[in-house]
Amino acid sequence: MNTLAAKEEPYVKRWNLFLKKSGYTKAMTDFVEEIATHVSKKIAVGNPVFRVLGVGSGKGKTDLRILTGISNVLGQSHQMNKPSIHSVIVEPSQEMISEFKAATTPLPQSLVKSSADVTFEWCAMTLEKFIESFPKVESFNIIHFVASLYYMDAELSLRSCYQKLCPGGAMFCTVVPEESFFPQISKKLHTKVDLGSAQKLYSEEDVVDIAARNNWRYEKLWKAQYIADITSCFDESSKEGGILLDFLTHQGEFRTTADKISYQEAMDFLGAESATDGNGRKIIRPEMTAVVIYK
Ligand SMILES: C[S@@+](CC[C@H](N)C(=O)[O-])C[C@H]1O[C@@H](n2cnc3c(N)ncnc32)[C@H](O)[C@@H]1O
Repeated sequence: MNTLAAKEEPYVKRWNLFLKKSGYTKAMTDFVEEIATHVSKKIAVGNPVFRVLGVGSGKGKTDLRILTGISNVLGQSHQMNKPSIHSVIVEPSQEMISEFKAATTPLPQSLVKSSADVTFEWCAMTLEKFIESFPKVESFNIIHFVASLYYMDAELSLRSCYQKLCPGGAMFCTVVPEESFFPQISKKLHTKVDLGSAQKLYSEEDVVDIAARNNWRYEKLWKAQYIADITSCFDESSKEGGILLDFLTHQGEFRTTADKISYQEAMDFLGAESATDGNGRKIIRPEMTAVVIYK
C-alpha cells in the first residue's frame, strides 16, 4: 500500500461504516437525479451531442443517475429524438474508474429505458491535470461535482470549469447546508479535523460566496435529508461506536484523544441532535443540498 493510501485508510474505514449505518447512498443518488432533471429543463441545448463532465465521479453510481435524469428530459423535450450524450469522467483513482466501467456494461435499466445513446470517456487524472491538458474551449452543457468539491480548491476548480461550460450551460455541486449536522459539529469542536484527503467541507454559503464574487448567476436548491443510526456512539464499550464517533467528529481516536470538555460537548451535541425511534435507536438526520451555477 502506498503512503497516501495508508494515510487515507482510517478515514475510508470510518466512511464505509457511516454508509452502512445511514441512508446516505440512496438519498444522494436520488437527489442527484432530481437535480439533473431540474437543471436539464432549465438549460439551452445547442449542440447535437449533449456533453457532460463529471468531476470526481468515483464508482459512477451518482453519474449514472445524473445521466438518467438528463436523458429523460432530453427525450421528452423533443430537443433530440434519440438523446445523444457524451459523458467525460475525471477521476484520479484507477480503481474507481475500473468499477465505474464495469457498471456501464450493461448500462443500468433506467438509462437503457430512456433510450439515450450514451458514450463514455474516462480520464484517470485530477481535475487540475485535466484542465491543463484539455483544449481551452467551451464544450460542456453540464458539469457536476458530487461530494467531490471538498477535495480541491473550490474557487479555482469552479472558475476553470466555468470556462469549459457552453453558453447556456450549467454546473452544479452538492454541498452541506451551513446549519446542518456536519458543519455544526465541526464548529462546536473547532479543532483540527481529519477529512482524509479532503481539504474542506465546503458549505452552500461558501459556493454562493464564490458565485457572487465571480458575478455568476446561481441558484440554491432544496435540501435532501437522510437518517443515520448513531446508537453505538453512546455505548463507550462499542468499538463500532468509537469508529462512528471518529467519522462524525472528523477526528481520529476521538474517545481517547479528545480532552474531557470537548468529548462531553460532542456527546451533548449528539444527544441533542438525535431522536430515539420506536426501536430505541438514536437517529440523526444530516442534510445535503446543491448550488447550480448558470452561464
Ligand atoms: C466522496 S467521493 C465522491 C464520488 C462520487 N461523486 C459519489 O458521489 O459517489 C470524492 C471523489 O473525488 C475524487 N477526487 C479527489 N481529488 C480529486 C481531484 N483533485 N480531481 C478530481 N477528482 C478528485 C476522489 O478520487 C473520489 O472518487
